[in-house]
Amino acid sequence: MFKFLKVEKEEQLTLISINRPDQLNALNREVLEELDQCLEEESKKPAVLVFTGEGDKAFVAGADIAAMKDMTPLEAEKLSLTGQVVFHKIYQWPLPTVAAVNGYALGGGCELALACDYRYIKEGARIGQPEITLGIVPGFGGTYFLKKIVGEARAKELIMGGRPIKADRAKEIGLVHDILPQNHFREEVLNYARELASSGHKALRTAKNLLNESHEEVKNALERERTLFGELFTTQDQTEGMAAFLEKRPPKFENK
Ligand code: COA
Repeated sequence: MFKFLKVEKEEQLTLISINRPDQLNALNREVLEELDQCLEEESKKPAVLVFTGEGDKAFVAGADIAAMKDMTPLEAEKLSLTGQVVFHKIYQWPLPTVAAVNGYALGGGCELALACDYRYIKEGARIGQPEITLGIVPGFGGTYFLKKIVGEARAKELIMGGRPIKADRAKEIGLVHDILPQNHFREEVLNYARELASSGHKALRTAKNLLNESHEEVKNALERERTLFGELFTTQDQTEGMAAFLEKRPPKFENK
């Protein structure tokens, strides 16, 4: 039993819902640890995995800002490593993984979706990497995987601009595979996932293995990301950006 996850199983498919709706399913250390534990348990008999968020509003609204606000650079780097490791396990999951983006997918939420093989977004949902507005950068693999998926120009627009985009723009730039209607969103995603799960698993495993990025390249990129992510926690801009979010006011960056 998990405190922050709901796990529902079918024959060849497991639906994992992040279950912290009052904080828009924000990822704190406990959620990440539970995800890791859940993957460990699932790996005994791997199925196609579908990730989604509880509630109507959010898939995952990012890493938990309240928990990050006062972190030291070392603590921030450790958090980044924890997120990277869990999301990399999803990236390397032997069978297909699907992100059912049922609402806001921001920061770590966008990165969770990027770690999956398929991304389906609900009509009206928004997705993006707004970390820059908090005085930081993505730290769970987003700087590498977003660029791989949408290219350098779009990755710069999303990460340096920080403004989340609507579902239709996300589809236009190839960030998501498709937009699905609000009314039957969950059922339609599950039907896609069931169809995937009905293919031969031996060939699916080989296909994924051949298509995934080389381990060395990913490893180096993630190491650089978490070092620089940690360093930003020495800045006043990080403290101000996160304090401003929690105090529900715009940040005043002084570039210090
Ligand atoms: N970490 C911690 N708490 C978060 C959160 C996060 N990433 N995202 C939302 N929450 C909390 C809010 O603080 C609020 O808590 P409160 O009710 O105690 O005040 C609650 O979830 C609801 O969010 P709120 O901002 O009031 O909802 P909204 O509809 O006005 O806005 C969002 C929704 C998603 C646009 C907004 O919550 C947001 O921008 N979240 C942060 C996104 C972000 O920067 N993510 C990257 C983190 S690295």
